[in-house]
Amino acid sequence: MKAGEEKMEEESRDDMKKAINPLLSPYKMGKFNLSHRIVLAPLSRLRSYNFIAQPHAILYYSQRTTNATQIRLAFGQVIRHEHGDQLWMLSMRKEVSSSANFGMRGEFQTLPNGQPPISSTDKPIKTEFHIDGSGGARFDGVEIHGANGYLLDQFMKDEVNDRADEYGGSLENRCRFPLQVIDAVANEIGADKVGIRLSPFANYNESGDSDPDALGLHMAESLNKFSILYCHVIEPRMVTQFEKQETTNSLMPMRKAFRGAFIVAGGYNRDDGNEALSNGVADLVAFGRLFLANPDLPRRFQFDAVLNKHDRSTFYTPDPVVGYTDYPSLET
Ligand SMILES: Cc1cc2nc3c(=O)[nH]c(=O)nc-3n(C[C@H](O)[C@H](O)[C@H](O)COP(=O)(O)O)c2cc1C
Repeated sequence: MKAGEEKMEEESRDDMKKAINPLLSPYKMGKFNLSHRIVLAPLSRLRSYNFIAQPHAILYYSQRTTNATQIRLAFGQVIRHEHGDQLWMLSMRKEVSSSANFGMRGEFQTLPNGQPPISSTDKPIKTEFHIDGSGGARFDGVEIHGANGYLLDQFMKDEVNDRADEYGGSLENRCRFPLQVIDAVANEIGADKVGIRLSPFANYNESGDSDPDALGLHMAESLNKFSILYCHVIEPRMVTQFEKQETTNSLMPMRKAFRGAFIVAGGYNRDDGNEALSNGVADLVAFGRLFLANPDLPRRFQFDAVLNKHDRSTFYTPDPVVGYTDYPSLET
């Protein structure tokens, strides 16, 4: 076969693959040329001791890297891998929230002596930000954590925000602090390097909202002012962390309102991930448990291979290997 014919055959094979498996089609997100649309959801908090990434994170992310340009989503800060251009997200709390106490109401983390989260107090907010000098120069972007009952989510949600100042009460007021954080981080590193994770519909860690549709839409619209790279949102069906629930709620209004890349997460598998992309519900799909248990998830999706099962008992444990880097890849 001549070289030209070979190329045509290759291209038509590629087209076919894309049609069957949109998750494997490339996507250009800002300056990042992603080779597929499968994103690693944030999963790594407890392996970063004192919220500092440890050497074992290198293996974990390397195992889940398709090539040097694929995005990795986790918790906060994104660091350039010395061997490539991938995005890493590590602990953000130290860098971003140094002037605000951090705490959750839920089971995982509480402030010392039962103090309420800052969104339930009248402590003054000081929006001063600085990016840690040692990592700042090297990372490619930041995913701001605005989901799952963490600091910014506590401000947005009316079930946990009791403040009576300009950071509490109305929807605009509750979203003020998260938007100030986004503005500050974008000013510091450039909006083209900033994404945010949101979960307007989730209510775990005692962070629920009485009108998640309005909250989600308001945030999606407000984010446009900053021209950030992407918005990563947890599906309404994940009202709790891991159980899918029937719902008529949809992320479509947020998707339509937001002008950057839109990432969805929560309960996805290969089929409904492909369906979400085909239906225009999202540009990219994040996978949590499937990607944890299958470091070579894109390859397994490509070949429709059998998937490893996750081991829930090792989810929230600090071991540098077990339940973290010991899930096997397919034989090559
Ligand atoms: C072990 C583990 C750790 C997680 N850690 C975080 C986290 O630090 N921050 C976060 O926003 N979500 C975290 N999640 C939630 C996932 O990012 C994801 O939203 C959730 O697993 C649902 O997606 P899935 O159905 O694809 O697993 C974690 C999930 C697991 C299994």
